[in-house]
This record gives sequence, structure tokens and C-alpha cells, in this order.
Amino acid sequence: MSAGALPEGGFAAALPARPVPSHGRPPHGETQLGNIRVERLTAAALADRLEELAVLRLAVLGEFPFLYSGSAAYEQRYLSDLGSLSGGLILAAFERDRMIAAATGAPLDRELDALRDPFTHAGRDPRSIFYFGEVVVLPSHRGQGVGTALLEIGESHIRQGNRFTSAAFGEIVRSTDHPRRPKTYRTPDSAWRRLGYRLEPDIGGTLSWCDAGDREETAKPLRFWAKPLATSIGA
Ligand SMILES: CC(C)(COP(=O)(O)OP(=O)(O)OC[C@H]1O[C@@H](n2cnc3c(N)ncnc32)[C@H](O)[C@@H]1OP(=O)(O)O)[C@@H](O)C(=O)NCCC(=O)NCCS
Repeated sequence: MSAGALPEGGFAAALPARPVPSHGRPPHGETQLGNIRVERLTAAALADRLEELAVLRLAVLGEFPFLYSGSAAYEQRYLSDLGSLSGGLILAAFERDRMIAAATGAPLDRELDALRDPFTHAGRDPRSIFYFGEVVVLPSHRGQGVGTALLEIGESHIRQGNRFTSAAFGEIVRSTDHPRRPKTYRTPDSAWRRLGYRLEPDIGGTLSWCDAGDREETAKPLRFWAKPLATSIGA
């Protein structure tokens, strides 16, 4: 799906509404941020939200800088696998009954070769690195702290096992004069820096997919951000 193929009413209107129980205090595994509730989707909870999550991701990933056109079936399969992967993490943010943002991640040693190998070649142990895949926030809800909150909540989950010494993620490098770069596009770099992530100057890679509207896959250069994780004492 490309941004140009969005249904009338935008992203949020495309998402199926589901009732969400109201809570006095958020139960275990949930975080309340004002009127936004963030929930870790375990395999059981994911089953109910799979379609909604896939629609959200495909909508945002269809935009610049990803320009990714994936299929709903592939996306649902990928998310199901991630939901049952040991160490896999899926966080979803809800406003009332609607999913408005999500973040995914997995231990780097369980990630694609194209993501793992650049770290291995730089002498890093992928077993000790947690890799955030994608953080996606609906355009209507950006700039309100949801994206950075998802990363912080993700970090608090992965600190609990005391297994990971750092968290990392990749960023697609698109040229600043890319024809499909919106005039209003803002990079989130400042927000990542505020959270303590730094660019890894010696680690780089490529990932290939077919951009929306293209016929063939092309390799996208990636740069990587990482942050040391303080582990929780006694965990
Ligand atoms: C990047 C993204 C996850 C940030 O989420 P968010 O909830 O808007 O982030 P926050 O409010 O916590 O932080 C805002 C930062 O994101 C950046 N940003 C990107 N687009 C923005 C927008 N439309 N409005 C406001 N801030 C935006 C800003 O640089 C801002 O940094 P600042 O606070 O120093 O100005 C979100 O813009 C998004 O989903 N973008 C498309 C997908 C993407 O690029 N994901 C990141 C790589 S996986």
C-alpha cells in the first residue's frame, strides 16, 4: 500500500474499531500515557489485533522514507512469527479503541542476515543486542511523544532479562532531494539522540525491497543507531 492509496478518511478510518476495557489502573504489561494506552501484545493478544496491526504498519511503511508496498498476508505472517518468537517484542498504542502506533523488535541474532551481519562484521555480538524493527505512529498522532515513549517502554521490557547490553535500530538513508520526499518531512534524529541513541559510524548495510510503484527490488543503504542499556539490578 502506498500513501497515495489511502482510503478516504485517512489511516485511522481504515482501522477496524474494537472495544477496549476501561481500567482504573493499567494491568501488568500495560502503560498509560495520558489518554494513550500502550500494551505489549503477547501471542494470544496479538491474534485479536493482527489485522489491525498489519493495516497500521502497511499504511505507515508505505510512506517516505520506507515506500514499502507489502501484502497484508505477508505482514500478518511476519507478525505472527514475531509474536511467538522467544524474545520478540510487539508493543501497540491505543487511543480509546483504536491502535494508533506500534513498535516491534527482536534479539539481533534472530534478525535478517542483512541486519545482523553488519554488527557481526564490526565485532559486535548479536546475542547481546536487541534490535528494534519499526516504530510506526499514525500521522495524526505524531509529535506528541508516542514514538519515543514506545522505544522507552520497549527498553524497559528488554532490560528485565539482563540479556542485552545495547539496543539498536536501522535507518534507511534516502537522498535529501528524493522525488518522493514530502516537503514537510522531518527526520526523527533529534528524538533518537534525546533518548541516548548514537549513530554507529563503522556499521552500515543495505536492505532490498521493491519500492511502491517500482517493478524491481533495489538495495537501500542503512545506517544504524545504538545505545548501551543499563541492566536492572537483581533482575
Ligand atoms: C518517527 C516516528 C516514529 C516518531 O514518532 P512520534 O510519536 O512523532 O515521535 P515523538 O513525538 O516521540 O518525537 C517527535 C520527533 O519525531 C520527529 N518527527 C517526525 N515526523 C514528525 C511529525 N510529523 N510531527 C512531529 N514530529 C515528527 C521530530 O523530529 C520529533 O523530534 P523533536 O521532538 O526533537 O522535534 C513517527 O514520525 C513515524 O511513525 N514516522 C514514520 C515511520 C518512521 O519513520 N519510523 C522511524 C523509523 S522505524
